Amino acid sequence: MQISRTLRKRLFGLRWRWEGFKNKVYDWRHGTKTHQECFLNTQGVTDVQALQGNNVYRPFWRKEFFDAIRALDVDLTDYLFIDIGSGKGKLLLLASHFPFSGIVGIEYAPALHATAVNNIKQFKYKAGRPGIMSVNANAMTWGLPTKPAVYFLHNPFDLKTTQAFFAKLDDHVARSGVPTFMIYGNLRGVAEREAAFASARSLVLKKRAPRFLVHAAHQARFCRSTPSPPPTSRGEDAQQDSFCITASVEASLMSAYPQKRTFA
Ligand SMILES: C[S@@+](CC[C@H](N)C(=O)[O-])C[C@H]1O[C@@H](n2cnc3c(N)ncnc32)[C@H](O)[C@@H]1O
Repeated sequence: MQISRTLRKRLFGLRWRWEGFKNKVYDWRHGTKTHQECFLNTQGVTDVQALQGNNVYRPFWRKEFFDAIRALDVDLTDYLFIDIGSGKGKLLLLASHFPFSGIVGIEYAPALHATAVNNIKQFKYKAGRPGIMSVNANAMTWGLPTKPAVYFLHNPFDLKTTQAFFAKLDDHVARSGVPTFMIYGNLRGVAEREAAFASARSLVLKKRAPRFLVHAAHQARFCRSTPSPPPTSRGEDAQQDSFCITASVEASLMSAYPQKRTFA
């Protein structure tokens, strides 16, 4: 038992370093700055806010991200992708490999948001891919759009805040009836915050993987199979058009909730 725990820790450490290296290579290829981890209280939020946000920025792993998105058996063109706590925007860039109707990141730390905006500009953007937008706002007060959406939470909050955000989203889904998925990701394992999702009314747990959970509202379809091929070929981004982003996303969000935007 002790041996297997030690072995698991070692393997996790190796994977951690390998993913760190891959993140650096990604940045080098795309001219972006996403791989460097940092403490949130150095990025323009107060110490109290930083603690509620786990006080760390780090990007999620690409393979687990693609696995989670591929687990959703829906026509993604109907759905917005919303990264709650989007940091430097890595998942916004990765989400652009999928045909979402728009891609939005909500990030409360001004310095991380500014880095994300630069990364989005820098990212070589393939024509026909969805628009990307980073919004500098607190996810707890941000008005949720009444549009079909896939919410991604890469462990952005402490337990209490995770509970509060989940209750807010669950209530929003119950009232609006809008098709919704919520993916919760945690590189150390989902058990750390699972208790936060116990009180769900509308969002039901559909898949439990070691590093992500998928909750879906009853309106949103779901399957365990792999519906679409991974958009992962090397050099795929090489011949792309320049940054063309926000207008369509902005328009779709505005029409979704015209009076309730709380962009800080
Ligand atoms: C672990 S990082 C994940 C970053 C990104 N989703 C990724 O995987 O590449 C969590 C992020 O959530 C942000 N965050 C924490 N609390 C937040 C809040 N209340 N509103 C908006 N963003 C928040 C942090 O600043 C941090 O960038």
